[in-house]
Amino acid sequence: MGSREVEALKDIDLNIPSGKMVIVKGPSGSGKTTILNIMGGLDQPTSGEVILGGQKLNSLSEKEITDLRRNKIGFIFQSFGLIQSFTAFENVELPLRIQHKSYKLRNRRVEECLEIVGLAERKDHRIFELSGGEQQRGGIARALAVNPSIILADEPTGEVDYLTGQKIMELFQEMIDQQGLTICVATHDPSAMEYGDIVYEIRDGKIRKKG
Ligand SMILES: Nc1ncnc2c1ncn2[C@@H]1O[C@H](COP(=O)(O)OP(=O)(O)O)[C@@H](O)[C@H]1O
Ligand SMILES: [Mg+2]
Repeated sequence: MGSREVEALKDIDLNIPSGKMVIVKGPSGSGKTTILNIMGGLDQPTSGEVILGGQKLNSLSEKEITDLRRNKIGFIFQSFGLIQSFTAFENVELPLRIQHKSYKLRNRRVEECLEIVGLAERKDHRIFELSGGEQQRGGIARALAVNPSIILADEPTGEVDYLTGQKIMELFQEMIDQQGLTICVATHDPSAMEYGDIVYEIRDGKIRKKG
């Protein structure tokens, strides 16, 4: 946005191995959201390439990228990105509606996902009736709905208290252990770092591995 050009990422070389939790940490404005958006095909890099599960994103058409995003990638947005006037159930159901899944299958999967994040008893509440932590869990359930192979989470503990943040990170860990998911978390929350199998630090658009 705006007329001034911003170089948000520079010389990025980053590998996210499957079945791992990779954390990209960095202060506000360092490029975390940009890198997640590029990984998930929401933004295109000016140069360079993104390879997802062996597929080069820049060789795909707009429609193919959209399909990939709908079927393989779970986005958890910093602002949750939930529809306020919908219930928790309806929000989690939405990506499955877009996939034209049957009523029966949708019901089962939504219940399952809400159960995983511990929001089953709030399923008929509208989003504005939920606390920040509950909304965050709703966002996680929605990202899980389509059984993605990778979850990209943008500051998933940013809006919640310490304990809820720890619970969210533990939930991610369980999802990796039990379902073989791959998760990339962008965060500036120090208490989230310890959960990473691999931690990268990003600063002014440059990235380096922390171990
Ligand atoms: N829509 C935009 N238009 C112009 N510059 C942007 C936009 N979004 C982000 N930026 C700039 O790109 C850089 C990286 O931002 P971002 O990826 O959002 O960082 P973070 O998520 O780590 O806070 C910052 O300098 C920011 O000001
Ligand atoms: Mg951000």
